[in-house]
Amino acid sequence: MDRSNKPSAIGVGATLPQPTISLRDNTVIATLPTGESVTIYLYGATVTSWKLADGKEQLFLSEKAHLDGSKPIRGGIPVVFPVFGRPPQNHATSSLPQHGFARNSNWEFLGKSSESLAKDQKEGDDAVKLDFGLSRPMLTEEFQKSWPYDFGLVYSVTLMKDGLETSLQVQNKGSQNFEFQVLMHTYFNIEDISQVRVKGLQSKTYIDKTQNAYVHTEASHAIEINKETDRVYQSLDPEVPIVLSSANNDTPIFSIAREGLNDVVVWNPWIEKAQGMADFGPDEAYKNMICVEAGSVAGWQILEAGDSWVGGQTIRPRL
Ligand code: BG6
Repeated sequence: MDRSNKPSAIGVGATLPQPTISLRDNTVIATLPTGESVTIYLYGATVTSWKLADGKEQLFLSEKAHLDGSKPIRGGIPVVFPVFGRPPQNHATSSLPQHGFARNSNWEFLGKSSESLAKDQKEGDDAVKLDFGLSRPMLTEEFQKSWPYDFGLVYSVTLMKDGLETSLQVQNKGSQNFEFQVLMHTYFNIEDISQVRVKGLQSKTYIDKTQNAYVHTEASHAIEINKETDRVYQSLDPEVPIVLSSANNDTPIFSIAREGLNDVVVWNPWIEKAQGMADFGPDEAYKNMICVEAGSVAGWQILEAGDSWVGGQTIRPRL
């Protein structure tokens, strides 16, 4: 009998579905065979989108964000380096803009790094790790003048079925030691700020940037955001994840685990500040975002000539 629809044999060389990676218009998009995706602009190596298999966006991106390299991107995960906030006076970073130069420099896509995936047992179709590089010769002349050190950054973004990992390696390629701060300025996409609580910070010391850097101790085990909030929580145990949870039923929405990043900034501009930012929109969107930023920003990391440092975060959403 002729079976025209008989199944064809699976060849010995048949390949499993692999992640797809595209680089177009200075943007890298990676998609797992299971549907999760991540979008990274070379400008700032800024992750601007992270979607789960059901297409749900996990990161907030302002409708008015500049995506043409004219301004740091308002949303996603900008990388802050080598200074957090406004640089202090009489410091090597003094002439740099707020949050340094990493988020407003053009990075290079170094490709997919499968070697470390194998090491982390994330090989196959479960994860893809994308590396981005920035070094001194790639900076604008102005930034080179403003910060005199020879450095290399490798920023790795790993998309997994059940999370997103971002990690930064800082290399001192010069002959002088330098000091730096670093932060992953993650804008989380949330449905309603009044329904979200931030957990894992109770009894920790924080600087309140809305109150002239006044130092407080956190009393709450589940922080509610109901006004402008700009706090730098310090010296946390990176083993304890910060959890965004639902006020309703206490279920986790996101958990943020860190390595080498012992400070966490919690930021929401609230009504007036949101209206005052030309690239923030719509005005009401402050209700749909919260920044929980893993970093090393309370003091300075000192990196000796020839040395390197690594820090990173792993974000797991509710699945
Ligand atoms: C946060 C800071 O990390 O970033 C805030 O703690 C700041 O003080 C916010 O307002 C946004 O900064 P920028 O430079 O992107 O407007």
